[in-house]
Amino acid sequence: MPDRKRKQKPKVSIIGSGRLGTALAVALAGRGYSIGSLVARRAQKARQAASLLDAEVQVLAAKQLRSLSPADVFLITVPDDQIAGVAGALSSLSFTATALHTSGALSAEVLAPLRERGWHIGSVHPLMAVSDAREGDGALRGGYWSVEGDKTTLRLAKTIVSDLSGKSFSIRSEDKPLYHAAAVMAAGNVVALFDVALEMLVQCGLTRKTARSVLLPLIASTIHNLETKDPAQALTGTFARGDVETVKRHLAALKNKDLADALKLYRLLGERSLKLTKKHPQITQILKSV
Ligand SMILES: NC(=O)c1ccc[n+]([C@@H]2O[C@H](COP(=O)([O-])OP(=O)(O)OC[C@H]3O[C@@H](n4cnc5c(N)ncnc54)[C@H](OP(=O)(O)O)[C@@H]3O)[C@@H](O)[C@H]2O)c1
Repeated sequence: MPDRKRKQKPKVSIIGSGRLGTALAVALAGRGYSIGSLVARRAQKARQAASLLDAEVQVLAAKQLRSLSPADVFLITVPDDQIAGVAGALSSLSFTATALHTSGALSAEVLAPLRERGWHIGSVHPLMAVSDAREGDGALRGGYWSVEGDKTTLRLAKTIVSDLSGKSFSIRSEDKPLYHAAAVMAAGNVVALFDVALEMLVQCGLTRKTARSVLLPLIASTIHNLETKDPAQALTGTFARGDVETVKRHLAALKNKDLADALKLYRLLGERSLKLTKKHPQITQILKSV
């Protein structure tokens, strides 16, 4: 396509150059977006993020927000509790733009002070876990993003998402806390559950490192099953088979080793597994009697 026909990408500035903010800066720069400013609580953190980019960017600490240069889009990637404060600070600037926050739990309404000043507001939330910002593009590629905002903002948000090789969808704004709790279930809580399984294998004499190695292919095969099957069909193991005596052995072993968290989780999730199978009421009784 001739250059003059190629649509110019908006200039994007990032307020909050932590894990997600930096990954977004790197990913967007790689997709031809110009990055205007990077802001962090501490300027040094923003400078670190800027060092990952090829181009010159304005680097600011949070308390210097008054010096922020204009841009087309401001991505607000600060911790959830800081978003309202950042919106308040941006609303005192002399220009208007589009502001998108990246919280999964908060609706775009937290940016209302900006809308009152003539800004377009919305949110874009990647259903991806970014723990290392330097992965940039790689950490976000292929993920689903929930997008929210007025018509113009939604169009822009969807373009950004598709430029990052993501897919957009929308939910009702009032459902965001529940939606985000579901994301925590499928990401952070899975990590916590993995940690419980590690603790159990350490009790069997394995090191944490070996325990991780032996469990990861098991998790990978479970995820593979979930890719093609509904949970009821993907479920394997003791509860799917209805091995009554094995459940009794598991419970006795957990009690014996005083693994209180593991015992609670085993019972709770075991009951959920049995609901999925719609069979083996005898095991439900055993779990309830512990
Ligand atoms: N990480 C993920 O996987 C992920 C995924 C989806 C959505 N999100 C959302 O993205 C947002 C950021 O999450 P994160 O995990 O990237 O957090 P993070 O790694 O803790 O980064 C937050 C960044 O915001 C900066 N900051 C804090 N207060 C500020 C302020 N008042 N003004 C300007 N900058 C400020 C921090 O500066 P310092 O470094 O100097 O402290 C830090 O660079 C949250 O809303 C989160 O829900 C994150």
